[in-house]
Amino acid sequence: MDQQIESLRTEATAAINAAKSPQEIEALRVQYLGKKGSVSELRRSIGAFPKEDRPAVGKLITDLLTEVTELIDTRTATIQASAQSAAFEAERIDVTLPGRRVQMGKAHPITQTADRIREIFRGLGFEEVVGPEVETEWHNFDALNTPAHHPARDSHDTFYFTDTTLLRTHTSPVQVRTMLEREPPLRVIVPGRAYRRDADVTHSPMFHQCEGLLVDENVRFSDLKGILAAFAREMFGADTKVRFRPHYFPFTEPSAEVDISCVFCEGEGCRVCKQSGWLEVLGAGAVDPQVFKEVGYDPERYTGFAFGMGIDRIAMLNYRINDIRLLFENDMRFLTQF
Ligand code: FA5
Ligand code: MG
Repeated sequence: MDQQIESLRTEATAAINAAKSPQEIEALRVQYLGKKGSVSELRRSIGAFPKEDRPAVGKLITDLLTEVTELIDTRTATIQASAQSAAFEAERIDVTLPGRRVQMGKAHPITQTADRIREIFRGLGFEEVVGPEVETEWHNFDALNTPAHHPARDSHDTFYFTDTTLLRTHTSPVQVRTMLEREPPLRVIVPGRAYRRDADVTHSPMFHQCEGLLVDENVRFSDLKGILAAFAREMFGADTKVRFRPHYFPFTEPSAEVDISCVFCEGEGCRVCKQSGWLEVLGAGAVDPQVFKEVGYDPERYTGFAFGMGIDRIAMLNYRINDIRLLFENDMRFLTQF
């Protein structure tokens, strides 16, 4: 009997300590301690012993029962603990890893520049108006004293939809629309897109202009110079050089083109300024009396000035961008620098 108990103990101990899952443990519990389990059967065989031996045998069996129960409990706890630590290991978070940064969006450099231009002119008393990008030939050219076959049209290589509708080549048609709708005094700016068949380091087929128009009694060319000089100082800094060059526009007389000293070469001459040391940023002039007649303003009573500046060119100067095309390629490596 002793031997039987001893071999059962050895067998159960080995089996229980080898169990790897709660299911295996449960099977062993049934196998040894269940109603038909080996230990229970042993206990039932106790009647076969002589009466005087029964207490001693009973104690041996009870001890075995206690021991197997404890073994099972201990093994169960061990299995649970290792399952838990495996789960912890699997879900482990490395708190020393740097987090993923949320990328903050920013306004495009052209938008930033346009906003700055708006801000400066708002400070000078100008109000913002807008107009359509798909224009009539009349608003874009004829009303601006640029009739069919006028040589000035050649410099605006135009995208036409039909014979009479086109993508506006400048923001100047909004001058016409505004004057048709309102009476002087007027002091407006028109930021917006314009389109021409044009492409090189300083020309893009789609670009941005900001028109300006001021109409009142007794407006003089010197007022235009004063406003544009004030703008240039605000925009580019007090020591920027500004140059007014006599020029021709059909809708202004006299006319000028305004250049800013090239920021890339400090006036030495480079690829961007085409070796001139200057970068043209706007055209301007006193409103031609013919334009006033087209919109029904009295040219004897009113005078005014207008200008049209290239927003993309100003962004290039401001942010030292040496190719206008960079502004439209939407390369994040470029855009995130601003
Ligand atoms: C005009 O477009 C006139 N409407 C400006 C004007 C308005 C004159 C009111 C008088 C009174 P111009 O074609 O020079 O003029 O263009 C004006 C500015 O727009 C240029 O100085 C330049 O800065 C910008 N610009 C013109 N074409 C392009 C282009 N393809 N890409 C980028 N900028 C351009
Ligand atoms: Mg020009």
